Amino acid sequence: MKRHLVSAADLTRDDALLILDTAEELAQLSGRAVKKLPTLRGRTVVNLFFEDSTRTKTSFEVAEKRLSADVINFSAKGSSVSKGESLKDTALTLQAMGADAVVVRHHASGAPARLAQSDWLHGSVINAGDGTHEHPTQALLDAFTMRRHLNAGLGNDLAGRRVTIVGDILHSRVARSNVHLLTTLGAQVTFVAPPTLLPIGIQNWPCEVSYDLDRVLPKTDAVMMLRVQRERMNAAFFPTEREYSRRYGLNGTRMSQLPEHAIVMHPGPMVRGMEITAEVADSPRCTVVEQVANGVSVRMAVLYLLLGGATLNDARTDSVETAQ
Ligand code: CP
Repeated sequence: MKRHLVSAADLTRDDALLILDTAEELAQLSGRAVKKLPTLRGRTVVNLFFEDSTRTKTSFEVAEKRLSADVINFSAKGSSVSKGESLKDTALTLQAMGADAVVVRHHASGAPARLAQSDWLHGSVINAGDGTHEHPTQALLDAFTMRRHLNAGLGNDLAGRRVTIVGDILHSRVARSNVHLLTTLGAQVTFVAPPTLLPIGIQNWPCEVSYDLDRVLPKTDAVMMLRVQRERMNAAFFPTEREYSRRYGLNGTRMSQLPEHAIVMHPGPMVRGMEITAEVADSPRCTVVEQVANGVSVRMAVLYLLLGGATLNDARTDSVETAQ
């Protein structure tokens, strides 16, 4: 594994499987009375969030605490960033406090890569979502969730599984990281979106494109619904919300076209009534809450492997020792 996790494209199949298998081991902790491992005792992890987050921020914090790291939460709101402090000076300040790893979410695509390439920070940089670029730990927790549901256990990839990603692909870092990781793991990805919400050059991505959700759903093992990211839009990308929902939203009738084993995923936050109805969001087929829980295990595995330099066997041994 590399020192940083900036892009899902940086992960080889072996790297990805090591993270997913380690996360499976670490997930066993959540059922125990004492959920902590001593692995990162004495190490400092900074959560550096320049953009809002509910799931990613809290699950990284839980993951860090379960590994016994010292955790510093930095939010741009309320910090000296509002007085004009640069990313470089913010990073140098955190380094002076001895950060062993920085988990960064930033509105600018490329900010985590800039930190990783700089000598401002000496520890690992983990991308927690940068602009419209990437969100690699989201893709990992999505793959973890798919593996659990689609009959692909420890050591297995997602070869031959068919994943459909629906909605605002243009602004989605989740879609970008997922297409990299799912392809590495052998899955077949189809994007379904209005033409206006697909990136230029989509024909060169390793995926198929369709404009007809009803035709794709019967051949889908996992359908991932995406939120329309209005906060990143400066123009009208579709006629009306009603029209968008009619063509690209998932309701109960549409969901019934999925094969019996197929799951409905969403990275959150969901906009009920827009890309997904309440009936679907609350159905047993929808894994949105489970994805959040899996995010803790996956982020623990990433931190464990990047900072602890451990192998899966070490993870197993530590888990067993902690349980005794
Ligand atoms: N999926 C996701 O990144 O959610 P948050 O924005 O709440 O972290």
